[in-house]
Amino acid sequence: MIRLPGLIDPHVHVREPGQTHKEDWDTATQSALAGGVTMILAMPNTKPPIFDASTLELALEAAGHKARCDYAQFLGAGPDNADLLPSIAAKAAGLKMYLDSTFGELRLDDMTLWMPHFTNYPKEYPIVLHSESRTMAAGILFAAIYDRPVHIAHVSLKEEILLIKAAKERGIRVTCEVCPHHLFLSKEDILAISQSHPGRGEVRPRLGTKEDVEALWQNLDVVDCFATDHAPHTLEEKDSENPPPGFPGLETLLPLLLTAVDDGRLIIDDIVQKSVVNPRKIFHLPEQPETWIEVDEHVEYEIRAQDEFTRCGWTPFEGWRVKGKVTKVVLRGKTAFEDGKILAESGYGENVRK
Ligand code: DOR
Ligand code: ZN
Repeated sequence: MIRLPGLIDPHVHVREPGQTHKEDWDTATQSALAGGVTMILAMPNTKPPIFDASTLELALEAAGHKARCDYAQFLGAGPDNADLLPSIAAKAAGLKMYLDSTFGELRLDDMTLWMPHFTNYPKEYPIVLHSESRTMAAGILFAAIYDRPVHIAHVSLKEEILLIKAAKERGIRVTCEVCPHHLFLSKEDILAISQSHPGRGEVRPRLGTKEDVEALWQNLDVVDCFATDHAPHTLEEKDSENPPPGFPGLETLLPLLLTAVDDGRLIIDDIVQKSVVNPRKIFHLPEQPETWIEVDEHVEYEIRAQDEFTRCGWTPFEGWRVKGKVTKVVLRGKTAFEDGKILAESGYGENVRK
């Protein structure tokens, strides 16, 4: 048995308000606990998006009633909310800016719309960028010009990780996260994931080439955080004419990482640094007292969607054999998950930005 601190996932799509048929604060946080995650940071591309005081209140109200693990909620950057965000920034995980196209309405194409956010948003809270390839390069230049930290979400390409490495070497305040699906899957796996439903392989950023995946593994020291980008959509939606992009990931994160430890590709301390220490530092999150998880590193099993707590009902890792299982989660002194059962009640989770 190994005992680890509770993991922090800085990138989760909870889907509430608005799309609770995919997931809600209850099922997302059950999924988190089953995965050994005791704190999640929730993304703002909900329906409506979280972009002002009243929509933030909407999300926090639902979370307050339903969340079973600790959490904070991101605000989304829109075309005309840069002036009002500073007054509510202390209540939020940080600011998320969607600079490339993905799921939801929040998207800022024009760089003149980026500027007021970089100027106004309080520097003690991070700006997280969904920015791919050249857009990412532009985002890093913004960090340098406006002299403030940025965190790059879901790095997936060789060119991206190499540029972030170079930017860090120049002293630019950029941090980044990598998702398990970009570390463990490449374009070559899309056929197996799809099972003749191409929508199942859709995710943003798209899965990389084998060369991209290899570059991420080779530059793991440049990677600050592991983040799932848990993006649940139902199988019916994934198999439809217009499939939304996104993979669920909360319950497969740690088993995949532990399997990589068993394979000699990672060490346990990498998991602690990138899933606890660094996210806490980057997002200024509080310690969770009397909080830990227990994993049995010897148990081998098969990943099966039917065993998961997420509402979406599928996983791109279906049938994968992994080694390492979460057996127990203790959150603030209370056993929240044990032997496959969720024991924390709805509403036990705390808003860490309260
Ligand atoms: O694949 C994705 N799905 N990428 C994103 O950036 C958003 C996410 C979602 O919300 O479904
Ligand atoms: Zn996301």
